[in-house]
Amino acid sequence: MEEFKITQAGQWPRLKSIAAEIRDTNFRELLDSERAARYRLEAAGLYLDYSRNLVTDEVVELLAGLARESPLAAHREALFRGETINTTEQRPVLHTALRAAREDLQADGLGELAGKIEAQLTRVREVSERIRAGEWLGVTGKPVRDVVNLGIGGSDLGPKLACEALKEFAHERIRCHFLSNVDGEPIRSTLRGLDPETTLVIVSSKSFTTHETLLNAETAAHWFKDRLGMENPYASPHFIAVTAAPAKAMQAGIPEDRILLFEDWVGGRYSLWSSIGLTIAVTAGHENFLRMLEGARQMDIHFRSEPPVRNMPVILALLGIWYANFLDAESHAVIPYCERLAQLPSYLQQLDMESNGKSVTFSGENVSQATGPIVWGLTGTNSQHSFFQLLHQGTHLVPVDFIGIGEDGLSSPEHHRVLLANMIAQSAALMEGRKSGKLPPWRNFPGNRPSNVLLLDRLAPETFGALIALYEHKVFVQGSLWNINSFDQWGVELGKELAQRLLDDGDDARDFDGGARALLDRLRW
Ligand code: F6P
Repeated sequence: MEEFKITQAGQWPRLKSIAAEIRDTNFRELLDSERAARYRLEAAGLYLDYSRNLVTDEVVELLAGLARESPLAAHREALFRGETINTTEQRPVLHTALRAAREDLQADGLGELAGKIEAQLTRVREVSERIRAGEWLGVTGKPVRDVVNLGIGGSDLGPKLACEALKEFAHERIRCHFLSNVDGEPIRSTLRGLDPETTLVIVSSKSFTTHETLLNAETAAHWFKDRLGMENPYASPHFIAVTAAPAKAMQAGIPEDRILLFEDWVGGRYSLWSSIGLTIAVTAGHENFLRMLEGARQMDIHFRSEPPVRNMPVILALLGIWYANFLDAESHAVIPYCERLAQLPSYLQQLDMESNGKSVTFSGENVSQATGPIVWGLTGTNSQHSFFQLLHQGTHLVPVDFIGIGEDGLSSPEHHRVLLANMIAQSAALMEGRKSGKLPPWRNFPGNRPSNVLLLDRLAPETFGALIALYEHKVFVQGSLWNINSFDQWGVELGKELAQRLLDDGDDARDFDGGARALLDRLRW
């Protein structure tokens, strides 16, 4: 991996000096329709308006120059060609291959993967179609009505978001439930409302070692035993596993013909395109799952072919770098104006923070600038009535992504107009602000607060796929310019190990710090 030090790039000093002046620039005055026409992009059914950012043409050009000077283009090719870019785990990163056409793979020298990927997709099709057709029968011969996905992180967030986003296409009889936390209440209360004869559990885990998922699976297995008097529920048609570790699923008792596979070169947080998307195909139908993959592929083609200033993921990434590295913004808010995208902020938290929440470079040196921001958000208009006060008048600089849907067949024209009017008004209010000598200071709005507006023509499988791929590539570009590995997640390990130590041997807890010991005493551990 070619090493790149962003702080030593030719553009860095000039960007630093402009940043010192930029807060005093009144962007409201620059916001004419000519700027709006220049600062917009369209790709794969998405429209990006980035005119309300704290950037001038010079800043955009310098940021684009930074991207050109960096090894981004080579790194991007290495991604698509399946080179070992996840260096700390010695793996390629090939979620893009899951949505590529056979000829794309052949052109990239990955032709041998095509058969494997197609076979896995065929399994998703067969299983989802049998479930949807009422042909997947439980032990008492009744068809499945409720599908319970047990998984956490990437084995939960992507499918859960997609099933909700594609609600318009949802099967009228089958309901999917997503259980992730090891908290025993959600699984108990969900199962209490279900009929075991018509329930199918999908154990979704790339590693098949994740404690939360395996304990939830055990609880579900006990429920089947108690309610249906089954000897071995795992061996019954009430359990399916989706995993990259089939031997572990078989050890747990799930037979090979009920295990759907994916490869270890699919990162957990990039796995909704793989067999992990089974619940998406069950909910919205396999054709719509394929449409989602095609939308992502269109974004891949755009990302791979357009120069930095016309490249939507690159522009979003560069704006994020501008705020994080030059204007000291520590967080980034994502506000979808659509309840079906309510899970998007949680999904993006894992995608962005697990990928770019790093402080050492590829070669293990400490980074010399900030990396990934704290990502947060909530749907509009709900968020307007909770934290928007801080966005408008607080002391933190928080760049915002507003996400809206052009036409929404599931809403009514009246509701939709109100929703979109609010979104546009918020973006304008943040930038324009309002100052008047006649008003007391607490009624003034400083303005000059940046935001992007992303519009999806419709919330269709294709545009949804393109939206997720857009953010995946944005995160990739930032990781590449920051010279960090966006595809490992070693930072999640220590907490897991300590919890295991506590569980394995209570006495070991004596080695923990005084605060932990006091807590354990109070809990009578
Ligand atoms: O602990 C973090 C993590 O490894 C995520 O990266 C992953 O998405 C999640 O746990 C679940 O992992 P698995 O799919 O292997 O159960």
